[in-house]
Amino acid sequence: MLSEPLPRPAAISPDEYRARREALMQHLPQDSVVLLRGGSLVTRSHDSDYPFRQNSDFHYLTGFAEPDALLVLLPGRSEGESVLFCQDRDPDREAWTGIRLGAEGAVKKHGVDQAFENAERNERLALLLAGRCQFYLMLDDGEAVALADDMRKRLASGQRRGAVSACSYVDLAPLLHEQRLIKSESELALMRHAAHISALAHRRAMRAARPGLYEYHLQAELEHEFQWHGGSGPAYATIVGGGANACVLHYIENDDPLREGELVLIDAGAEFDLYAGDITRTFPVNGRFSPAQRALYDVVLTAQERAVAAVRPGATLGEIHDGVVRDLTAGLIELGLLEGELEACIADESYRRFYLHSTSHWLGLDVHDVGAYRVEGKSRPLEPGMVVTIEPGLYIPDTEEVLPAYRGIGIRIEDDVAVTPAGHEVLTGDVPRRVVDIEAWMAKK
Ligand code: GLY
Ligand code: MN
Ligand code: MN
Repeated sequence: MLSEPLPRPAAISPDEYRARREALMQHLPQDSVVLLRGGSLVTRSHDSDYPFRQNSDFHYLTGFAEPDALLVLLPGRSEGESVLFCQDRDPDREAWTGIRLGAEGAVKKHGVDQAFENAERNERLALLLAGRCQFYLMLDDGEAVALADDMRKRLASGQRRGAVSACSYVDLAPLLHEQRLIKSESELALMRHAAHISALAHRRAMRAARPGLYEYHLQAELEHEFQWHGGSGPAYATIVGGGANACVLHYIENDDPLREGELVLIDAGAEFDLYAGDITRTFPVNGRFSPAQRALYDVVLTAQERAVAAVRPGATLGEIHDGVVRDLTAGLIELGLLEGELEACIADESYRRFYLHSTSHWLGLDVHDVGAYRVEGKSRPLEPGMVVTIEPGLYIPDTEEVLPAYRGIGIRIEDDVAVTPAGHEVLTGDVPRRVVDIEAWMAKK
């Protein structure tokens, strides 16, 4: 069941990376410096490493794909404001692990003003930092703080006569993460692609499902499709939960059989050019919903569709979540899973027994992407360029206290939605969501 290959969307241009660095520096004082480390290889065992994935913040400002790099931004420096330190050229190592761009390649390909190899790093850095008093760092990055401490000591010890030692550290995260929260047109093009190939993967897994397979068979179908379309793999650990496994929110074992008469919940998304897709669908293993499964499914679907429809500039994720809670709670009362008045069940949070997570998160280079959710103590208004997930669910425990028909059913429906000036764009609309559409799609095996 091979899909047609798809055209690749354009990569982010060096000009856009430059513009991002310049936009960040607009917010920085002239005597400041940004020190931002890229990711490093992590040893898996002996001489084997985990596959390298660049740090998202570093990628956002450089597009530079090698490990062990450092970006230094120096607002107002006449010889150039962006300086990159990168791995040393090393023909012996490169024979094993591939060509390194080196300083010259980094300037040519990535449009930084200057680049140097790491062998020169600390000497050069001490010179670059002279006179800079505010260090903008990721304060949760211990190695970045240690590097800054080391530089401060060098400057203070008078090794560099006339140099002023830098005096304060400022967290870079809030500033950079605000910038990352609003996606550019070229980022949205990559996110559309990540979402589209994630949707194709869900369609494929739905068609492949049947009783007697194991959860990992569907995982294999999904991840084949991600990679076939040039994704680097899953953007987070793929969840395939048959039956009551769907009620375990972060179930990733994926090693149980898929049984006749049960639902299966798949939460899976591709990573493409470091951008994440994040889709959940829940469907019957045998292709037909039972009446109880359908009834519960339609409660989640109604809440999800209304929440997606509410995404627009000015709306807040808080309001959208409150609407979902109201719709789910009303449905639970109607099905007899909750007793009492709607307002009372919302107020006493009895719905939380069946719905305990929030409805949305930001999506971007990270699946749970960066950016503040609250501003001045309130859920922040949505703005064009933000991308959110809408993912209500109901998880009915397999216990005697609930109606037998619904025991052990877990349902979540998740789509990725970009906020546009006029309202919203659903990025993951290519995968069946309504009961009739799921059943029709699965019947066409
Ligand atoms: N897949 C993680 C989430 O939906 O938040
Ligand atoms: Mn999600
Ligand atoms: Mn998800």
